[in-house]
Amino acid sequence: MVSPDKKTPDADAPDETQRSNWEGVPRPPEVEFRNVSFAYDERRILDEVNFAVRRGEILIILSTSGGGKSTILKLILGLLKPDAGQILIEGEDVTDFDENRMQPIRDRIGMVFQDNALFDSLSVYDNVAFRPHELAVPEEAVASEVRQLLQFVDLEDDSDTLPEKLSGGMRKRVALARALIGDPKLILFDEPTVGLDPPTSATICELMIKLRDLEQVASIVVTHEMDIVKYLSTAYLTLTERGEIDIHDTEAGHALGNTRIMMVRNGREIFCGTEDELIAFDDPHVHEFIAGTELLPDPKIQSG
Ligand SMILES: Nc1ncnc2c1ncn2[C@@H]1O[C@H](COP(=O)(O)OP(=O)(O)O)[C@@H](O)[C@H]1O
Ligand SMILES: [Mg+2]
Repeated sequence: MVSPDKKTPDADAPDETQRSNWEGVPRPPEVEFRNVSFAYDERRILDEVNFAVRRGEILIILSTSGGGKSTILKLILGLLKPDAGQILIEGEDVTDFDENRMQPIRDRIGMVFQDNALFDSLSVYDNVAFRPHELAVPEEAVASEVRQLLQFVDLEDDSDTLPEKLSGGMRKRVALARALIGDPKLILFDEPTVGLDPPTSATICELMIKLRDLEQVASIVVTHEMDIVKYLSTAYLTLTERGEIDIHDTEAGHALGNTRIMMVRNGREIFCGTEDELIAFDDPHVHEFIAGTELLPDPKIQSG
């Protein structure tokens, strides 16, 4: 799987994704939190949280259940507003945007909900096509995009199926295809592998890695499961000259620089860094997370 002469993606990262349309001006992060605090009534949920995610990166947000992970995603989508601090999307401060100004921003963000939020009475096709149908996009354009997305998540033969006929992993892939409609450059995953068995979790992780390495999207993956952290941090994809996908493990399992982990506890960031740095981080709460972790099977995408 690993070819010794293979450079890690960091070494040959395509710089153009970090470049803006203006020469010499770097592209701003897809999303950035600056000292964001949020409370439900008197209860402080987030306390001066800072992070930034750029294209071609994954930020994994780890905390125990109730730690404020879904709250962070709702703040990004503008469904909640912070009590203090700023939220920037593609460099634009959207903190005080009202519903009218927020909707077009939200339309450019892909969201994979924890429970998938699929419509049971709609086929896979109509679930994926939901937003463009709402916007009355011509069917021809919708059909070609949906076909491509179903191919991406390997469900092209299930277009007419109802969600209830699908397995948990397949439903998650429908939810991902729906999140990808309109070609968003920022994708939010709320506990994407919860309730899935390890091989199915690995498939979902591979799709996230594909988006990071081949589509250069920015992803935020919130989870309380340590087992996907190692996988996302040490597997990467490249294209061969013939356009086939190769999956690699990093040398000696070293963590990729483009996949960082932020750990939140009691609303505060207690760690931010790579998986290598997380393992080496000397903190009892971090150790608690790492202990008892069941690792996912080896990467399984084959060439071609
Ligand atoms: N609408 C709400 N009103 C009051 N408290 C809430 C509400 N939604 C969530 N909470 C509380 O906020 C905390 C963080 O919730 P959440 O962001 O959903 O955590 P996570 O996604 O990490 O499990 C939890 O303690 C939860 O009970
Ligand atoms: Mg949650």
